[in-house]
Amino acid sequence: MARRKKIYEGKAKILYEGPEPGTIVQYFKDDATAFNAEKRDVVEGKGVLNNRLCEYFMSGLNNIGVPTHFIKRINMREQLVRAVEIIPLEVVVRNVAAGSISKRLGIEEGTALPRPIVEFYYKDDALGDPLVTEEHIIAFGWAAQQDMDDMVALALRVNDFMSGLMMGVGIKLVDFKIEIGRVWEGDYMRLVVADEISPDSCRLWDIETGQKLDKDVFRRDLGSLADAYTEVARRLGVLPQNA
Ligand code: C5P
Repeated sequence: MARRKKIYEGKAKILYEGPEPGTIVQYFKDDATAFNAEKRDVVEGKGVLNNRLCEYFMSGLNNIGVPTHFIKRINMREQLVRAVEIIPLEVVVRNVAAGSISKRLGIEEGTALPRPIVEFYYKDDALGDPLVTEEHIIAFGWAAQQDMDDMVALALRVNDFMSGLMMGVGIKLVDFKIEIGRVWEGDYMRLVVADEISPDSCRLWDIETGQKLDKDVFRRDLGSLADAYTEVARRLGVLPQNA
């Protein structure tokens, strides 16, 4: 295969220049990191599972009219996506208290929230991705005022879709993170779901047993991460075949 230009290497993915202008190849690594990369390991097969699962979620969203950057899966570890201008925010939606909201507000993990809560974190590893408000986002120009409602609406549509999908296979979508990008179509700008959606970026609990099927298995040393992700893929009927 022709050598491609590497654009960016992150903790779990590498981005390469795509075959056409305005496209990017997103490569899923086996690396697992947590706590801002203080904890790290290599989980064989994770990249393949996440590539498949991400394809499943993103193409499902595209099919119901929720715009994403996803174009197509290329092979076991790579997918073709549209180049977007990433908004430097992590958008988190929570249905049930867990993780940082439980810590910050003293809400017991597993407590159902009165309604889905959307939060914004400023993407900055050196600062540990701090929680920010709309005031910060507008004042520092990370997004425009008119983007705020659109970002919340997009995040809630992803939540509805993903919650339903998971509910159908006996899994509770506790929370998840997305990133949002801008794409330009002539003078018209629209927001699309970018980056990835996978068990790395969601909390997924078995509805019957409460078993964790997401990256908390790695963060909290609860067993095999590959087994947990394989179980999610198996239930959704997305087990990786040969590319
Ligand atoms: O840690 P916290 O409870 O704020 O995480 C909320 C959700 O966002 C979890 O599903 C977690 O996996 C995801 N997340 C992420 N990347 C981050 C921070 C959180 O995918 N940098």
